[in-house]
Amino acid sequence: MATDIITATVPAPDIVRCAYMDLVVTDLAKSRAFYVDLLGLHVTYEDEDAIYLRSLEEFIHHNLVLRKGPVAAAAAFAYRVRTPGDVDKAEAYFAEMGCRTERRGDGFARGIGDSVRVEDPLGFPYEFFYEVEHVERLTQRYDLYSAGELVRLDHFNQVTPDVPRGRKYLEDLGFRVSEDIKDSNGVTYAVWMHRKQTVHDTALTGGDGPRMHHIAFSTHEKHNIIQICDKMGALRISDRIERGPGRHGVSNAFYLYILDPDGHRVEIYTQDYYTGDPDNPTITWDVHDNQRRDWWGNPVVPSWYSEASLVLDLDGNPQPLVIRTDSSELAVTVGADGFAYTREPGEERGFKLGTQL
Ligand SMILES: [Fe+2]
Repeated sequence: MATDIITATVPAPDIVRCAYMDLVVTDLAKSRAFYVDLLGLHVTYEDEDAIYLRSLEEFIHHNLVLRKGPVAAAAAFAYRVRTPGDVDKAEAYFAEMGCRTERRGDGFARGIGDSVRVEDPLGFPYEFFYEVEHVERLTQRYDLYSAGELVRLDHFNQVTPDVPRGRKYLEDLGFRVSEDIKDSNGVTYAVWMHRKQTVHDTALTGGDGPRMHHIAFSTHEKHNIIQICDKMGALRISDRIERGPGRHGVSNAFYLYILDPDGHRVEIYTQDYYTGDPDNPTITWDVHDNQRRDWWGNPVVPSWYSEASLVLDLDGNPQPLVIRTDSSELAVTVGADGFAYTREPGEERGFKLGTQL
């Protein structure tokens, strides 16, 4: 596929981490029940139009904005940068690539100071900011700690029709690849990319895009995720559990995917690994390896591959979708469980344990 990304000549901004998502929801009361009553995210501020939420260990104003609107969609994937000057760098960087940019001065957004939003080369609304209102970090507020407590925002996941093109753009922007999925021809099907010292701040999944695949919050332990499943069962909303719980092959994380009232996908995630050394090795998975998506080999439900949320342009209108056209790649992805193997051809069962099972 084409990799027609224009490389900017000005310096890229120094991105620290994924920081928050601005999410449009159609019924604020229903979304509040999901994110506050079910998942226990903490309300920093709310009014009749929006709810600003943060995870337990967060000290910036919010990790998620739920904004009432007519069409459910992601309005911004927001990243914190290292200095105020990096906001200027981000604006210049994307402007040089021919992307639309919108500077948002102090007082434009609640809890966030000077920032820039861009329509990036893949069609995603990205935001970069440094200035932010600090709030109480609730780490030792054990009086507030729930059995399924979400402690940090971990990552975004984005659907794009041309993963190699997106990988090139994000590597130019300073992201590093922790893991990817390739076939024997070296074609990349999905890629996990980080700025902070975890497996990812965002990942690219192949499909019709631009779309938001999921936003992920982390818990301390696996049992916190099991509690969320039990709670959803008790509330008779088990049909909102889409996939899992399980153990990922990629990232090694224990995971759960659930769907909010608008169908926005949320992952609950824990126990990936440190990636901060400069020579952190990239792990490449074979697209046919049945344990890449689920370490226990459980099938991935088709909706996980086909469904995702719209994203908005800077005017608030849904971005048109570019249909993924590489049919052979699509067949491998969607039909992964039919085409996959658990052991490489010729490999005996139990080989890796040194015994025949
Ligand atoms: Fe994820």
